[in-house]
Amino acid sequence: MNAAATARAHTNIALIKYWGKADTKLMLPQTSSLSLTLDQFYTDTSVAFDASLTQDEITLNGQRLTAQAGHKVHNFLDLVRQRSGQTAFARVDSTNHVPTAAGLASSASAFAALAGAASQAAGLNLSRTDLSRLARRGSGSATRSIFGGFAEWHAGTDDHSSYAEPFEETVDWPIAVVALVLDARQKKVSSTQGMQSSVMTSPYYPAWKNVVNQDLAAIKPAIQARDFTTMGEILEANAMRMHALTLSANPPYSYFNGETLAAMATVQTLREQGVACYYTLDAGPNVKVFCQTPDLPVITERFKAQFGADSVVVAHPGPGINLQSTL
Ligand code: PMV
Repeated sequence: MNAAATARAHTNIALIKYWGKADTKLMLPQTSSLSLTLDQFYTDTSVAFDASLTQDEITLNGQRLTAQAGHKVHNFLDLVRQRSGQTAFARVDSTNHVPTAAGLASSASAFAALAGAASQAAGLNLSRTDLSRLARRGSGSATRSIFGGFAEWHAGTDDHSSYAEPFEETVDWPIAVVALVLDARQKKVSSTQGMQSSVMTSPYYPAWKNVVNQDLAAIKPAIQARDFTTMGEILEANAMRMHALTLSANPPYSYFNGETLAAMATVQTLREQGVACYYTLDAGPNVKVFCQTPDLPVITERFKAQFGADSVVVAHPGPGINLQSTL
């Protein structure tokens, strides 16, 4: 049995969003979702179970976390201990490779990498489907980061039926995602809080559940047909429909700031000028723009002029999880 392992997992951006939990403990979503894994943003995590430890020791980006800051990781390790019979505490060392300190979702890559390294170190040797189920318990979006390329998370109705699988793992399509880092601060409303308030209080939540099913059914053939325009129109509309849930919650809130709206307007202007590009946003103000690689120069120049060169990061489709036993 390997007592230590490392894993690298990449983050993903949802084209059809997950927004709402059906079961907060099992982390079952209200709806299925579909994402693209990105090459530029990833997490490297090593886990070593060590019988001499008296507690889990968690280090993130070179800094030891307090028990409070590390409680999600600790709870996740408890789950792995329960399943594997491993009783020792663990040393966890995790590094997020993102262009700036924060501002781009790292929970997807973080919990996918932790699921991989911890389960391997505990000797579980899980299939990728089982890894996807396990990663889900850390963070919903991590379910999809086990796989490269386009991945679909089937909502399911219990632990067994809720997992992701590749929709198209090797993406031989010259597409890119331009990430605009507009505000690197921690978000004010966590995705968990935001989802719960949307599910409980937005009168539009029932409509959202229908719309997701329609958007998912429509985007899959568009991806398969390499129909960039249809894919872009659907992903942009789906993101705005998700954000409409925050605006219609009680009390209402928004993840947008002024620069978010300015970036969205630039995307619209670029489109009017004949450049095919479409935006999406998660639970924060940073905008991600889907485009085709031949259009990258004109798009990146425009955004560098608007927000500064450091705010513009180009990503492409990325790979699935990579695991290594280290002992
Ligand atoms: O994985 P969580 O719980 O942080 O939720 C992520 C939710 C969104 O990023 C907004 C949408 C998604 O599908 O990734």
